[in-house]
Amino acid sequence: MKKTVLVSGGAGFIGSHVTVELIGAGYDVVVADNFSNCDLTCFEGVKTITGRKDIPFVEMDFCDKTAVRKLFADHAIDAVIHFAAYKAVGESVSEPLMYYQNNLVSFMNVLEVARERGGCNVLFSSSATVYGEPSPDRLPVTEQSERQPATSPYGNTKQISEDVLRDCVKAYPGIKGIALRYFNPIGAHPSALIGELPRGVPNNLVPFITQTASGKRACLSIFGNDYPTPDGTCLRDYIDIVDLAKAHVCAVARMLDGKMKQEYEIFNIGTGRPLSVYELVTAFEKVNKLKLNYKFAPRRAGDVTAIWCDPTLANEELGWKAERTVEETLEAAWKWEKHLIEK
Ligand code: WQD
Repeated sequence: MKKTVLVSGGAGFIGSHVTVELIGAGYDVVVADNFSNCDLTCFEGVKTITGRKDIPFVEMDFCDKTAVRKLFADHAIDAVIHFAAYKAVGESVSEPLMYYQNNLVSFMNVLEVARERGGCNVLFSSSATVYGEPSPDRLPVTEQSERQPATSPYGNTKQISEDVLRDCVKAYPGIKGIALRYFNPIGAHPSALIGELPRGVPNNLVPFITQTASGKRACLSIFGNDYPTPDGTCLRDYIDIVDLAKAHVCAVARMLDGKMKQEYEIFNIGTGRPLSVYELVTAFEKVNKLKLNYKFAPRRAGDVTAIWCDPTLANEELGWKAERTVEETLEAAWKWEKHLIEK
């Protein structure tokens, strides 16, 4: 009997790539999204990639508990992957109430309805941002590394949501939970039919790079080259979006196949390979055979100098490992940007 996975926020960047991998792994998927941070582009791309024109789609807001109840009543959900959240760090600082309201209420509605229905397997989309600025002697971070006080309301919603899931698992029979802490998701599906679709000026590095390469942006600013790192620019653990999506399939299988060792588990999803901003920029130029217009600019407030993970636990327990090279990732990112221009 096929198992059904609900993907909340499933029309977005990560949700669409996860939907492709879930269908490829033989799961039935229900996608629900309110289009607050995306349009139908990626969902249409998912249907083309998978050849499935019949993927159930529900346009709804997870802050509407009645809609969440109806969603679970209409579909026999075996597991839910919760992506539906706002994710712009800077915006969360200027609009904290919007972020706490949306990100926390939507997730608590999912948990409340799961509880009402006797339980559910809940996979939460968390973030490496919970680790804050690890000191150099505490790198790479592991799942046992201490969380640091959040440096943004966005990051705080991730920490609070992890704790809400942990406490619901303890208190309510039938609820099991896994939190996946992503490092820096980048790239696009090799088909160039789905990828990142930032609204307005991109905050994140790779979409700004690809938009600079396309001429949509005049010049990339590399925020700071005076950090205490080998080339002076910040270090991150850039994880290919398809590799990241596959980690979700492994985590869902772990829950549905009864392989969990605790009722609540956390996994870092990264490569374990720190890369600097400058290394990423030069790798993009080399693999795509182009010259990028960039300049070194002052540091960006809130950036951490360096963070990357030790992915051993996910490798060993989830049976998952990042496989794609940064060159493959950056080639796919550029192919996606060119697809957007040609559309
Ligand atoms: C990476 C590096 C920048 C843009 C954030 C969130 C995290 C997650 C991923 C949601 C930094 C530098 C960037 C640019 C640059 N988001 N940079 N020029 O800040 O590590 O993580 O996005 O889940 O929670 O915190 O990612 O891509 O913004 O920046 O030099 O135009 O690239 O300074 O060193 P970040 P990023």
